[in-house]
Amino acid sequence: MTIAPAPAATILAGDADWWRQASVYQIYPRSFADANGDGIGDLKGIISRIPYLSELGVDAVWLSPFYPSALADGGYDVDDYRDVDPKIGTLAEFDEMVAALHTAGIRLIVDIVPNHSSDRHEWFQAALAAPAGSPERDRYIFRDGKGENGELPPADWTSIFGGPAWTRVADGQWYLHNFAPEQPDFNWRNEEVRQDFRETLRFWSDRGVDGFRIDVAHGLAKDLADELPSQAELDELPKDGFHPMWDRDDVHEIYAEWREVFDEYDPPRIAVAEAWVEADRRARYASADGLGQAFNFDLLEADFDADQFREIVSFNLDLAAQSGSSTTWVFSNHDVVRHATRYGLPPRGADKEVKQGKEWLLSGGSEPALDAEIGLRRARAATLFELALPGSAYLYQGEELGLHEVAEIAPEARQDPTFFRSPGEDVGRDGCRVPLPWTREGSSFGFGSGDAHLPQPEWFGASSVEAQDDDPSSTLSLYRRALALRHELQSDETLEWLEEISTGNVLAFSRPSGWVTVTNFGDEPVDLPAGEVLLTSAPLEDGRLPAATTAWLRAA
Ligand code: NOJ
Repeated sequence: MTIAPAPAATILAGDADWWRQASVYQIYPRSFADANGDGIGDLKGIISRIPYLSELGVDAVWLSPFYPSALADGGYDVDDYRDVDPKIGTLAEFDEMVAALHTAGIRLIVDIVPNHSSDRHEWFQAALAAPAGSPERDRYIFRDGKGENGELPPADWTSIFGGPAWTRVADGQWYLHNFAPEQPDFNWRNEEVRQDFRETLRFWSDRGVDGFRIDVAHGLAKDLADELPSQAELDELPKDGFHPMWDRDDVHEIYAEWREVFDEYDPPRIAVAEAWVEADRRARYASADGLGQAFNFDLLEADFDADQFREIVSFNLDLAAQSGSSTTWVFSNHDVVRHATRYGLPPRGADKEVKQGKEWLLSGGSEPALDAEIGLRRARAATLFELALPGSAYLYQGEELGLHEVAEIAPEARQDPTFFRSPGEDVGRDGCRVPLPWTREGSSFGFGSGDAHLPQPEWFGASSVEAQDDDPSSTLSLYRRALALRHELQSDETLEWLEEISTGNVLAFSRPSGWVTVTNFGDEPVDLPAGEVLLTSAPLEDGRLPAATTAWLRAA
């Protein structure tokens, strides 16, 4: 049944640059708010919490996948790109949500997952039913196997979630899945695939969606020779634009086609690429002829360290200036250990290969290393630093409550495929996806009237919205105040480092509006420059900025 799109609210029309310095709040829909009590968050739940989002003061929401899905990968296995999962709601409720967000002055970005569908997608089902070499199989990446009877995979590749990247089907052929077996990779050389995604972009744009977050944006274009390289050979290949699978130059031909679709709308729809590429190749994704913006995960990967932060900020502001885009700042999302927890673990130093699961074992092992208090204190300081930077800030649901990662999830309650596909190595991402606590007590801490789909720990009540709402020292109050002030203080997309203060463990910068930010990354209190103190991430001590604290001032 087709339901007429809701009229896009006019309140937000017109500003084509709204995204450049927006604060964007990521909602992981199945864990945000559950209106019908089935344990899974839903669109009605989101609608009921729009007043909360308004009070928080965010400019936009990024909604992780809400499409029909068997949830083999938390919804990133999509059965149908142009519908709503019945477990979550209906298209009519989606329209209602868009209208209500727009009325509240909040824009909406939805997740698009173009690298792979789910194995339940009608195209993959058709491919399974069709013979080798058929047009149905050509929409995906099917190959004959090796060995005498094709019993060996076409290559020994490992998927990103662990385990083999090729799976055999009933007639003996194999298909490629860079993620879980339930996520077959599309063949983007197939014109039908290209056309269908353009139609999907129009479908949601017509319903009033303001933009898109593009999943695995660096993976769509593939060039697979008849004789495939081994995994060891793949790992050695330079990522210079011609790798068979990742960050190929020709992926941008797809995004040039998408740009034409985005520009059919007024204001043009926006897009942000999730592209894990070398930093100097990010600008291509952020180009105005392509997606327009790309995630920069550099701060997310850094320690709480003045030198690392300064270098990352300067580098990314230069990069943004080159592409004409604005940069994005992220500390937490649904794929990584929450930053309050990361900052309470020992620093990783230069070892960026430390995977989140291993990092987590540090605190879950026999000698717990997590210092939860310092972790949250640093997270608050880092967030205040982030919210003062030029560019857009992506916030993940629950970080405004200062939530820590949930460690205490029993193996049988876990859902993330990375946990099951890398036994013992990676606990997976469920710990940051536990449904939000809205109330101190009660069923699922106010998430819904039933049990939450992932178990919530006892300590969630003390971090709930209810517990923080009226407490001026709470993390929720800090985010509300910061987001409101940010609207007042944002100016053009530049900053100036204040060299006389930015020494040792201290970083200070000013924005043209006269907004000064000072962060003390060290252990000892430091003096603040002259000016009116507007907000601090922890109380000042005798007028000085204590350890692991950020202050915002209006220059004297
Ligand atoms: C990136 C998404 O953020 C992650 O959650 C997902 O598992 C992979 N892409 C595969 O879609």
